[in-house]
Amino acid sequence: MTNAAVNDELPTLPKHIAIVMDGNGRWANKKGLSRMEGHKAGVDAALEIVKYCGELKIPYLTLYAFSSENWRRPTEEVLGLMSLLYGYLTKESDSLVKNGVSLHTIGASNRLPELVQNALSEVCEKTKAGTRLHLTLALSYGARDEITRAVQKIASDVQNGLIAIDKINETLVSDYLDTRKMPDPDLWIRTSGEMRLSNFLLWQLSYAELYVTPAYWPDFTRSEFDKALSDFYARERRFGLTSEQIVNPS
Ligand code: IPE
Ligand code: IPE
Ligand code: MG
Repeated sequence: MTNAAVNDELPTLPKHIAIVMDGNGRWANKKGLSRMEGHKAGVDAALEIVKYCGELKIPYLTLYAFSSENWRRPTEEVLGLMSLLYGYLTKESDSLVKNGVSLHTIGASNRLPELVQNALSEVCEKTKAGTRLHLTLALSYGARDEITRAVQKIASDVQNGLIAIDKINETLVSDYLDTRKMPDPDLWIRTSGEMRLSNFLLWQLSYAELYVTPAYWPDFTRSEFDKALSDFYARERRFGLTSEQIVNPS
């Protein structure tokens, strides 16, 4: 059985989609624009996809917006990205509330400029009642950093007698990650054709379906999103079982 409609059944919507929004720079370059123009177009594309996920009733969307490695980009670009983020946070918060979107972040947010940290806390607080779509921005995020922080916290809790070593299992580890309380992504999308994870959600993507499109992120429209969804519906997710077991569960 695939994720697609079987007989009269409606297709199972993915509960959580994670996207690596890549290719802003190449999109701009192709058009003779600055990289910052590419990032601005990228934010517009992201806002449209957020709206679309809300309409489709996909409950969790996680967007890779800035990686722990992106700090190594030229200072001008890093500052440009931070001010772009700040501007949109202040501008978009009302519309997030209106559309039932709650904002969350994952990553080492303490590395972000204080102004951005404050704006993020404000918008997260203001939108916390939103239940239609849980929108998570991965900011200053790296999966190895996230796992390292989780290991440190688990070790400290063991040392302080809060948890016993034999209570450490997969669920407990998940609960120490930044993504605690979120289901694992069912579908991972990367734009601009790159076939790599780039340190994104290494633990959580264990059984996600992977989809890569050559489209640059600013060109990732609703119809590109539909293509990713139809591809997802055609997949058979076996989770280690055989096809027969999936079709006739015992
Ligand atoms: C993705 O686009 C946005 C961020 C990483 C912040 P890029 O800036 O990586 O665009 P390319 O890969 O250079 O085209
Ligand atoms: C991944 O894109 C990070 C984001 C989209 C925020 P990069 O452009 O930084 O990834 P690499 O360097 O090509 O692997
Ligand atoms: Mg890139």
